[in-house]
Amino acid sequence: MSFSHAVELRDVTKRYNEIVAVSNLSLTIDTGEIFGLLGPNGSGKSTTLKMLMGLVTPDSGSVSVLGLDALSQSLEVKRLVGYVPESANIYEFLTGIEYLDFIADIYGVPPAEKQQRITEYLKALQLEGREGDMINSYSDGMKKKISLISAFIHKPKLLILDEPLNALDPRSAKIIKDYLHELKSQGVTTIMSTHVLEIAEAICDQIGIMYQGSLLALGNMNDLRQRASLPNSGLEDVFLRLTGTEDLKAVVEELMK
Ligand SMILES: Nc1ncnc2c1ncn2[C@@H]1O[C@H](COP(=O)(O)OP(=O)(O)O)[C@@H](O)[C@H]1O
Ligand SMILES: [Mg+2]
Repeated sequence: MSFSHAVELRDVTKRYNEIVAVSNLSLTIDTGEIFGLLGPNGSGKSTTLKMLMGLVTPDSGSVSVLGLDALSQSLEVKRLVGYVPESANIYEFLTGIEYLDFIADIYGVPPAEKQQRITEYLKALQLEGREGDMINSYSDGMKKKISLISAFIHKPKLLILDEPLNALDPRSAKIIKDYLHELKSQGVTTIMSTHVLEIAEAICDQIGIMYQGSLLALGNMNDLRQRASLPNSGLEDVFLRLTGTEDLKAVVEELMK
């Protein structure tokens, strides 16, 4: 694998019994990109991200992350990557600060930096004053913020974020978006999934559109808009589902502005 690739999937298939969640997926993501996996519910985005993290084993194909084999070297991958799962399964019986402290220790963040980073993130995401409360008293959005901070805390070179802006208010979403761009300028690669067209458009340099487990199209938003406006591109249908409107023409015109 070339060093410029953060992630490489080759001919990857994953089935759950008779359901083919991911079908013959080949995808290369370059270092330093903000890459969006865009697609309707059930299109295979989360399964793909879980395979990158070694949390789901593909039936066939190969997955490499930062030059490591995602399966046989999954511990090393987990050490190097910041991951936000779709639903934040975080320890509800800890307080926010206890949880972040614990995660930072697992990643070996030096104590002095740990305190400073946690304080800064809590402030930026408006969690100050709530860090001493039990996580089970947090809203979904607050849990998502804690999950994001725990992915950022060890300053990973690669972020894998599954629907990172779900449940976030617009202000917090904007802060995360700006922060991902700031990290990009430092060479950090971000791979994120979303089922919201506007989010992919606002954040991602490159977008892969998944549909029924396959990659339907790949490119920047301009490429995809152009292709979606062509009849029988296949993207028409996907864009319709992603925007929830029946009038594709209006969607395409809106996107062209
Ligand atoms: N653990 C699982 N067991 C059975 N089916 C699953 C499991 N995880 C995902 N699937 C199925 O695989 C398909 C892709 O799911 P997923 O990767 O979660 O899609 P997305 O993240 O794009 O919504 C869906 O049909 C889903 O029902
Ligand atoms: Mg998902």
